[in-house]
Amino acid sequence: MCGIVGYVGHRDCSDVLVSALTRLEYRGYDSAGIAVFENDKINVAKSKGKLKDLVEKMKIEGKPDGFAGIGHTRWATHGEPSDINSHPHSGAKVTLVHNGIIENYKELKEFLENQGREFLSDTDTEVVAQLLDYYYSHINDPIRSIIETTQELKGSFALGIVFEDFPNKVFAVRRESPLIIGVGEDENFIASDVPAIIQYTKNYYLLEHDEIAVLSKNEGVRVFDSHYQIVSKELKTADWDVDAVGKCGYPHYMIKEINEQPTAIKNTVLPRIKDGMPCLDECNINPEVLRNIRNIYIVACGSAMHSGMVGKYVIEDIARTAVTVDIASEFRYRNPIIGKGDLIIIVSQSGETADSLAAMRLAKEKGAKTLAIVNAMGSTIAREADMLIYTHAGPEISVASTKAYMVQLSVMYLFAFELAFAKGQIDEEKYKYYTSKLLETPEMVEKVIAQTTEISQKISTKLLTADSLLYIGRGLDYALSMEGSLKLKEISYIHSESYAAGELKHGTISLITKDMPVIAVATQSALYEKTVSNIKEVKARGAKVIMICQEGNDVPKDIADYVLKIPNFEEILLPMLVCVPLQLIAYYTSVQKGNDVDQPRNLAKSVTVE
Ligand code: M6R
Repeated sequence: MCGIVGYVGHRDCSDVLVSALTRLEYRGYDSAGIAVFENDKINVAKSKGKLKDLVEKMKIEGKPDGFAGIGHTRWATHGEPSDINSHPHSGAKVTLVHNGIIENYKELKEFLENQGREFLSDTDTEVVAQLLDYYYSHINDPIRSIIETTQELKGSFALGIVFEDFPNKVFAVRRESPLIIGVGEDENFIASDVPAIIQYTKNYYLLEHDEIAVLSKNEGVRVFDSHYQIVSKELKTADWDVDAVGKCGYPHYMIKEINEQPTAIKNTVLPRIKDGMPCLDECNINPEVLRNIRNIYIVACGSAMHSGMVGKYVIEDIARTAVTVDIASEFRYRNPIIGKGDLIIIVSQSGETADSLAAMRLAKEKGAKTLAIVNAMGSTIAREADMLIYTHAGPEISVASTKAYMVQLSVMYLFAFELAFAKGQIDEEKYKYYTSKLLETPEMVEKVIAQTTEISQKISTKLLTADSLLYIGRGLDYALSMEGSLKLKEISYIHSESYAAGELKHGTISLITKDMPVIAVATQSALYEKTVSNIKEVKARGAKVIMICQEGNDVPKDIADYVLKIPNFEEILLPMLVCVPLQLIAYYTSVQKGNDVDQPRNLAKSVTVE
């Protein structure tokens, strides 16, 4: 969603802001803007559209010229994407950019209008700018007026602020929405996320709720709490470099990230193996904790939730513990029956997804234990969970999740194996066997990428004219095909659904018409014959069948137009292999349709509002 940056230092501020915003493009946006001090004046440039539109506009109208300022990419919530609604927004002496949603903006706007203030845009952000300006005009102290303002705000916000009376200083504050403070040599930054500033510095502070930061070139960074007391902060260092946020010769981030999956699995799994068995002690998970778990709920959104679907099948199968998978936005509002003894697993790449965070807080309130599986270090979900397993995918830039989903799967397995052993459902031999197989997955995934790229490309050419398609499967194959279907629709814009193959006859099979593509996943031996029967049913009604199965499977003649074979492997782990061609099919379909693969329309990478 919206991206925020800010800079103060010795470089050309406009260039730094645009370049840092470019690194946040992956979050999704529909307009952009910057505000830079030119001597004592704040000069604003903003435009609907992409950053290149802003750059073009600045070429014509002039680029703000100075060494301190703030910038923003906006994903419209209040008011359509337009030049006027783009950030920054200003009051008389205050200009700011905002990520988040102000829930009580209508009441605040009414109050400000009664004070004679006028508004130019439809945004909730302009209300914050005017409110801050209102307090500043009375108090004349920037920090105190930020404190007064934020006390009035309901909702979520990260704000980058400049005050006309304080040239070459940037202020920042946050609640719920993420914001980091980058610390360089004689230059400092604010940003929604580390990738924005990694080309300048790897060192940063995490800003806590309601903390206020003041950045300047010579005085460095000072942080205050909401009582105006100085706070001392721990300096963190990103453990990846600029290559991690570049395309490194790949045409798109998505394909780069698909290829990074073997490394991502190694980085996630290897540090958690001791004596050939998973060891999650450092995450506060030990056999005693596991033995006391009553029910498990896996709560998440999108791909992260789909990793939980695979987790459910695996955990229930081998650890014999009941698992409910819930969409976070449903869970948080349905008064779930949870309490002491239950474990809620929250899965999130960004660690900032608003619904997942709210679901986790609700579970805590009700007395359940929370375990977060998170990729982004220091994110809110990571910080608030009782137990935490970091996935080590590195930064995922493409909106369509691939490597983050893959490592979420790998953690589901680590957890399931340890739980099954702790509960006495598998013996040590089986425990070590499963672990050894998990350790083989990076190599297997690499092999599958090599073996399935060409055929996935071919298959994708057959999907280009489809209006709609189905993914079908049973058991683990069904759980996995949910992710395949999401991947395809989000980047190719072709409608698709994932269906439990056995459920087709109860309604959905009526959709099958001549040449409608059906991607049938049939990798689980125990269910193979059953799925083959379902494939025959759709084939008989004219479907164009793309079948994914294991090498050596006996595929009856004429039931499939294309057969994509996956190497034989431990079946419980096959989702980690089969997701590769599903990702590749989606990728190549999107490429061939000429879509914006990494930033599909209407989507944002990190959904920090409801
Ligand atoms: O950051 P999160 O993992 O919490 O995000 C959840 C979903 O928004 C995300 O998985 C989304 O579905 C993917 N980008 C789709 O590829």
